[in-house]
Amino acid sequence: MYVGYIPLVCLFYISANAQSPFGSGITVGTLDSTHLDEASGLAASRVHPNVLYSHNDGGDLSRIFAVDSTDASVIAEFGISGADHYDWEDIAMGPCPDKSSCIYIADAGLNHHRPVNMIYRVREPGAVKDQTLTIIDKLPFIWTEVDGQTLLVDNHGEIYMVSNVNGGKGLMVHIPASAWGSATPFNATSSVHLNITTSHHDPGAGDISPDGTELIIKARNHVYYWKVLNNDYLSAVETPPIEIPHHSERLGEAICWDVNGTNYYTLSEGRHAPLYEFVRLPTGPAVG
Ligand SMILES: *[C@@H]1O[C@H](CO)[C@@H](O)[C@H](O)[C@H]1NC(C)=O
Ligand SMILES: *[C@@H]1O[C@H](CO)[C@@H](O)[C@H](O)[C@H]1NC(C)=O
Ligand SMILES: *[C@@H]1O[C@H](CO)[C@@H](O)[C@H](O)[C@H]1NC(C)=O
Repeated sequence: MYVGYIPLVCLFYISANAQSPFGSGITVGTLDSTHLDEASGLAASRVHPNVLYSHNDGGDLSRIFAVDSTDASVIAEFGISGADHYDWEDIAMGPCPDKSSCIYIADAGLNHHRPVNMIYRVREPGAVKDQTLTIIDKLPFIWTEVDGQTLLVDNHGEIYMVSNVNGGKGLMVHIPASAWGSATPFNATSSVHLNITTSHHDPGAGDISPDGTELIIKARNHVYYWKVLNNDYLSAVETPPIEIPHHSERLGEAICWDVNGTNYYTLSEGRHAPLYEFVRLPTGPAVG
């Protein structure tokens, strides 16, 4: 009896590991600033080691915070000049016009009962200290949706927005990098629905890996993962994703890959919210 028990445990352990490409998540710390109390987006700096950017949900000042990814301390606050903040719902990293690293901001939520549908981009600050950053440009867009909480930008600057809908099958639209600089809003018509089903209004966040080959989307009680070939995100999300670990969060609307595209972080709304890190296991998919 005793002899038979051990192999059974081992078998279970191995198969459980094989199904779970990422660890179950560790708390790296809790936010220590009362200014960042409704975190709604998260993105990893490409320039400053161990820096994540975040921002508050609708109704805040136009500002972004730098969060230390090793302990969740808030280390700087950046005013964003030239940008309105009706309902910022997500940020993402992407290229600036000169190919340096920019933070993209989506003002596309429903807070003021009228979607604004604006994307801004601002160059990453040269130093992680309190200062005001001025936007480089803005990109108004039109889509059929009323609430967008997920902004995705790939390594070539191609932009995707995903709507938040009851049941989770949000509409993903493509906004090409060439759409910047037009006076008229870009009409985003190239679209597909996510191949997921949830029991809430979802999804609330997402991120494309720095090399463009992996996509994560966060719903209220799920995190979904797709491997992506040839930067074809619209085709990828029509296929079923695999589910990867998350911690139950009250209003978890923020997720991002780390700068190396190895591990991912989640953060939720609320004061002193915990920052969780999910580490890629040796059994997980190869990076890139
Ligand atoms: C956007 O494109 C769709 C599909 O071509 C079209 O039906 C719609 O009228 C366009 N919207 C605007 C505001 O031009
Ligand atoms: C989801 O993926 C499955 C398997 O590929 C496919 O049969 C199904 O049609 C997809 N559903 C949607 C809504 O695209
Ligand atoms: C990213 O990779 C570099 C080089 O391997 C390493 O020094 C750094 O710690 C990694 N950063 C993260 C956030 O894992």
